Amino acid sequence: MKDYESKNGVMMFAGMPVTDIADRFGTPVYVTDEQRLRENYRNLYNAFSQYIDTKIHYACKANTSLAILSVLAQEGSGIDAVSIGEVMTALKAGIPPEDIMYTGVNVSDAEMKAVTDQGVMINVDSVSQLERLAKINKKIPISFRITPEVGSGHSDKVVTGKKGSKFGIPKADVIKTYVRAKKLGFDIKGIHADIGSGGQTVQPFLDAMDVLTDTVNELKELGIDLEFIDMGGGIGVPYKMNEDEMDLNELAAGVTDIILENTDIKKLIIEPGRYIICDSTVLLTRCVDVKDADTKKYIGVDAGFNTLIRPAMYDSYHYVAIGNKFGKAATAKYEVVGPICESGDYLAHDRALPDPSEGDVVVVYNAGAYGFSMSSNYNSRPLCREVLI
Ligand code: LLP
Repeated sequence: MKDYESKNGVMMFAGMPVTDIADRFGTPVYVTDEQRLRENYRNLYNAFSQYIDTKIHYACKANTSLAILSVLAQEGSGIDAVSIGEVMTALKAGIPPEDIMYTGVNVSDAEMKAVTDQGVMINVDSVSQLERLAKINKKIPISFRITPEVGSGHSDKVVTGKKGSKFGIPKADVIKTYVRAKKLGFDIKGIHADIGSGGQTVQPFLDAMDVLTDTVNELKELGIDLEFIDMGGGIGVPYKMNEDEMDLNELAAGVTDIILENTDIKKLIIEPGRYIICDSTVLLTRCVDVKDADTKKYIGVDAGFNTLIRPAMYDSYHYVAIGNKFGKAATAKYEVVGPICESGDYLAHDRALPDPSEGDVVVVYNAGAYGFSMSSNYNSRPLCREVLI
């Protein structure tokens, strides 16, 4: 991970001093660098499309802001949606229905009807869902999410592909479910698996691709030809200063090699959320209180787990800096904590930082993925602003 530039002791973000952004828009505020967002999209697209026809379906659960979706629509992105709300937001941002795929879990009939009424393809997650969909809309193209029995992720809470997972068609039922769908008269387009979120190694993606390609070939022998493989999302990003990025070319070359060597599949879909949006965005929060509590020193800020829940929920690490004392030497270790009435409300533990004072602008890095989208009104606090530069 790379650090930001400094000008006159102030951190610069997207060409602006973070103090100016905080003054102008108030805090807490999520700030996104549009150029970085576009670069991330292009890096990923270029890495895969040099080998195979690739479609990116941005997993908009990571951030559904209309401004961000509109930028990605301009780049040619499709959308991975998990709810009718996400489908409607994507349509509003100008993404055509044929570029949206709905991958829900535990989906109600009402939601399936609403999604298919919009002409959006369904990635079916269970046998129950298939049978119910057959009564609602048999004309909509479908694919299946399978459980690859391969899992990866930054926390157990976000591993999705393991054996016994609540997600996908269990491996033992996959073939008969495709055969059943064919018998029901569905237009079956593809196969999908997601292993989990925030993994930092390439191998699990290759292991899952082996499972997908074997299944594609088994289905072909039964006369079921698929158009695409969807490898889901999950590409991790570094959150710590000394961490390296996953080697995208190794990932793309490895995955596409397995597809092209073993199958007739000509199209790959990928569903990155975190990779696209994470490091394009920081959270600015103002120091409102400073406390020396004997065994601990606290920097009290105006963002809590209502604004960014990842540290409290997954013990996720987010790098923090004091934006108006950028580059100044650290004086002690601090807890960065918010206004929520729970002791689990923190943004960062035990961080070496310069002497804090009320009014400082604390910058939380890598806040783009699952930051704003998981924020809440807890303690009756309003959602904060999002700004795109
Ligand atoms: N596709 C499917 C089917 C998924 O379930 C997910 C994420 C993605 C794509 C996108 O994964 P990504 O590329 O962003 O890793 N709230 C958690 C992450 C939950 C991810 C759930 N599924 C966090 O803050 O880390």
